[in-house]
Amino acid sequence: MSATTESGLPMEPVYGPNALDGWDPDEQLGDPGEFPFTRGVYPTMYTGRAWTMRQYAGFGTAAESNRRYHQLVEAGTGGLSVAFDLPTQMGYDSDAPLVAGEVGKVGVAIDSIEDMRVLFDGIPLDKVSTSMTINAPASLLLLLYQLVAAEQGVPGDKLTGTIQNDVLKEYIARGTYIFPPAESLRLVSDVFAYCRREIPRWNMISISGYHMAEAGATPAQEVAFTLANAREYVRTALSAGLDVDEFAPRLSFFFVARTAFLEEVAKFRAARRIWARMMRDEFGARNPKSQMLRFHTQTAGVQLTAQQPEVNLVRVAVQALSAVLGGTQSLHTNAYDEAIALPTEKAARLALRTQQVLAHETDVTKTVDPFAGSYALESMTDELEEAAVDLMQQVEDLGGAVAAIEQGFQKTEIERSAYATAQQIDSGERVVVGLNKYDTDDEEPYEPLRVDPALEEAQVERLAKLRSSRDAAEVERTLAALRRAAEGSENVMDPMRAALAARATVGEVCSALREVWGMYQPPATI
Ligand code: 3HC
Repeated sequence: MSATTESGLPMEPVYGPNALDGWDPDEQLGDPGEFPFTRGVYPTMYTGRAWTMRQYAGFGTAAESNRRYHQLVEAGTGGLSVAFDLPTQMGYDSDAPLVAGEVGKVGVAIDSIEDMRVLFDGIPLDKVSTSMTINAPASLLLLLYQLVAAEQGVPGDKLTGTIQNDVLKEYIARGTYIFPPAESLRLVSDVFAYCRREIPRWNMISISGYHMAEAGATPAQEVAFTLANAREYVRTALSAGLDVDEFAPRLSFFFVARTAFLEEVAKFRAARRIWARMMRDEFGARNPKSQMLRFHTQTAGVQLTAQQPEVNLVRVAVQALSAVLGGTQSLHTNAYDEAIALPTEKAARLALRTQQVLAHETDVTKTVDPFAGSYALESMTDELEEAAVDLMQQVEDLGGAVAAIEQGFQKTEIERSAYATAQQIDSGERVVVGLNKYDTDDEEPYEPLRVDPALEEAQVERLAKLRSSRDAAEVERTLAALRRAAEGSENVMDPMRAALAARATVGEVCSALREVWGMYQPPATI
């Protein structure tokens, strides 16, 4: 440990000129847009095109969310990002007794093709790229999107966007899973094959570290567990007979951006390098697009405070800057009031304006990877890469991501990190401004956005009307065909699309699959 001053400050710079002794820029860096992509996935990065400003939004009914999407498009957002309510994410209809009180709360309620039609009313699906944060029933929402686009006259090969479709992290950190791992992975590879055939420009998965980070994962754990999940998805697709360069270019990722600015920039650069080497050397990917880790970033929700909420504007700006200097392709900036309630319209606009200031008023888009060659950043990138690769090996030694999940390994490791962080905050070792230091009690009153409780009733009524007006025999026939496909080995996407087109509901389609595949039972963890 280097000498320190009376007040405990290091006498020596932590990363000085010898920090990069023996470091080979050609091997560790390469050029932007070149293997191993440390400096970014495109040669010109933001000097060619700024990142996509993609604000996650959605609540209440499809009509209310549609209004918010029109507001965001008018305010300049570059791409849509749909939040679904928990019943939809868990594959239940809004009238299922189990989900009472959750309809339309944390996202938009989508029960059928009719809701999807309303959600995208007036939105030209050949002009916007749409991300849908949906996992276990991701296949259904993608098909509903394709069906509604077809009604607009937009063919599948013109659609661009992403479905999260990453169930492995749901077992580890978020919980919106339905089926057991084997069946979930089968569905993921069916979606890969279907997209290759029907919607070739679609990013059919967004392999996410965000939620594991929000659950407490350290940067090294976030990268390691995300890339270990990615390795499992690649293996699944290969064993389903897909060629790596056929699907890998459309894999995408999703990470958090925390306030520990330099460490986060290093994290993104290390992740790109690990992925590039794994895809080339372990899976034999030859297409450079198969080796490029393209990712979306969201600023850290757990670092927002309900105390002095305006201070969150500063946190989000710093976090967003780390994502930009780390080379993100797409970015969501949290609203300053989100630790309290769903964002108000003003807070949502301020969140977007934060990105617009970075893109248009600063000069960060004028140079690619400006930190390249920095003693501190390159050392931190190497250290993070080493820690993440070591942790990925531990997952491999347990039999891979699914085997490790079934042993509770990732969940337990993240819980340990979360506990350590909580202790540091409680002791004051880790300062959270306004929470455990510089707190004040002259808070101005804050008026949160409220979701209308009558919303659930209206959604249930709409569902009843749909059920009474559709051809019940046709729905039953298509659901029976879906069950047969799920029992066999054919791709379930085509029979699933037929059922959704016949106005089978999200809950009915997922229940048909539950009957055949069962539901996941998590292992007990410490
Ligand atoms: N030079 C050349 N081409 C460039 C370029 C450059 N500098 N910059 C961009 N481009 C091209 C790209 O190649 C691409 O073309 P293509 O589609 O033909 O390949 C096009 O311009 C668009 O660029 P990107 O693909 O980089 O940007 P997108 O925004 O379209 O896609 C993504 C970004 C990360 C690949 C994609 O997967 C995405 O949008 N992900 C978003 C995921 C998301 O929003 N998730 C929300 C999660 S919220 C959640 O989980 C819940 C909550 O609890 C947090």
